[in-house]
Amino acid sequence: MTKRTCLSVILAAGEGTRMASSRPKVLHEIAGLPMVTHVGLAAKATGEGDIALVLGRQADDVKAAVSAQLGEVETFIQSERLGTAHAVLAAREAIARGYDDVIVLFGDTPLVTSDAVARLRTALAEGAHVAVLGFRTASPTGYGRLITQDGRLLAIREEKDCSEDERRIDFCNSGIMAMSGAHALDLLDAIGNENAKREYYLTDAVAVAAAKGLSAVALEAEFENALGVNTRLELAEAEAIWQRRRRRQFMLAGVTMLDPATVQLSFDTEIAADVTLEPNIVFGPGVKVASGARIRAFSHLEGATVGENAEIGPFARLRPGTRLARKSKVGNFCEVKNATVEEGAKINHLSYIGDARVGAKANIGAGTITCNYDGFGKHHTDIGAGAFIGSNSSLVAPVTIGDGAYVASGSVVTADVPSDALAFGRARQVTKEGRAARLRALKSGGH
Ligand code: UD1
Ligand code: MG
Repeated sequence: MTKRTCLSVILAAGEGTRMASSRPKVLHEIAGLPMVTHVGLAAKATGEGDIALVLGRQADDVKAAVSAQLGEVETFIQSERLGTAHAVLAAREAIARGYDDVIVLFGDTPLVTSDAVARLRTALAEGAHVAVLGFRTASPTGYGRLITQDGRLLAIREEKDCSEDERRIDFCNSGIMAMSGAHALDLLDAIGNENAKREYYLTDAVAVAAAKGLSAVALEAEFENALGVNTRLELAEAEAIWQRRRRRQFMLAGVTMLDPATVQLSFDTEIAADVTLEPNIVFGPGVKVASGARIRAFSHLEGATVGENAEIGPFARLRPGTRLARKSKVGNFCEVKNATVEEGAKINHLSYIGDARVGAKANIGAGTITCNYDGFGKHHTDIGAGAFIGSNSSLVAPVTIGDGAYVASGSVVTADVPSDALAFGRARQVTKEGRAARLRALKSGGH
């Protein structure tokens, strides 16, 4: 099947007014990725193929967002919204190039799977001229109904055009359709707008095909493939389904989740087998976790790699550019940004480590801060292997602490500390014997 050429036409010209947003609807995100990009990825995953995006308002923004993930994609503008068939025809020039398969997808149905698209393509490869993805539901109101007979699809009837009997049909149109490329333009051009909404309905391609003696089939798939997002409520619903799906995949692949429902994943999160995730963890984009690592409760990670058997949290924050090597540890209330933490190093409590290297087996005491920003630029702190940074130290960057060096607690370190040196960067302690008692007496009025 991969030998067949394919064009995926993604319709994204919708106004999306019910989102109540200044952003185009299809750019609202599921797991950190625009809905329309999810659709594009599903289309692309079925094999080599081209994508034609049909856009309306803010076309440049949508194009840029999609290209960021999928590479350059061809776009077409539908300036007047005259229906789904009309929208597909905006991409006429692309369809006319002659593909074996033309797939139509909606930019606001982010949960469509590549499997579902692949099944439609298989149906075309097996001789169907039109293949439609359907689903069954107890509440079909609003969807086009699939009118079938003996396994053949005769027509799709939009809700507003249905007879009483047809309204009772529970087999519905997901909106996703595949057409034989050789017939696609003939079918689309023959569609009229004699219906309740005076729109050119893509769904009429089925009846047109039947009239031309071409064959159409309907394949049943899970409802999720058809979940269209029109409001923020539906966006949240789609997000929840996406998250459930992906967590399930991870768990079946060997990841332990103590309370799966509280783990929020990103579209690109990578987690190896034998990782343990405690409750309430948020993954932003760009996180990779190696096997044996444990992420403890209430941690937030983005743009970070966590090495084998490393441990982070509870309450840790890893920001972009964090690279934790094997067996390193970042404990509670620590923030790490753009820093490499080498094997076995420990940052256990209440620290900020930014723009830094922490050498192997170094120990960073509680409350240590790398002062990486001077109000103008960011500077690097280099901490050598086996160094010991006493609690509540401020390392004022740029600064280097050598291998095996020791920084006394409470130091403000502004100059480099050579290897194996001991640095004190604090005022010497002065102790006055008996002075506290005298002070108390003085303040309480005694003489
Ligand atoms: C459509 C199907 C219906 C199906 C349902 C599934 C048609 C005629 N009906 O109905 O059978 O059950 O989806 O959700 O196809 N669009 C454009 N330009 C237009 C019109 C629409 O780009 O001129 C885009 C929309 O942005 C949207 C998609 O096409 O992404 C579907 O349009 P919509 O108006 O939502 O169709 P439905 O009434 O939901
Ligand atoms: Mg819709």
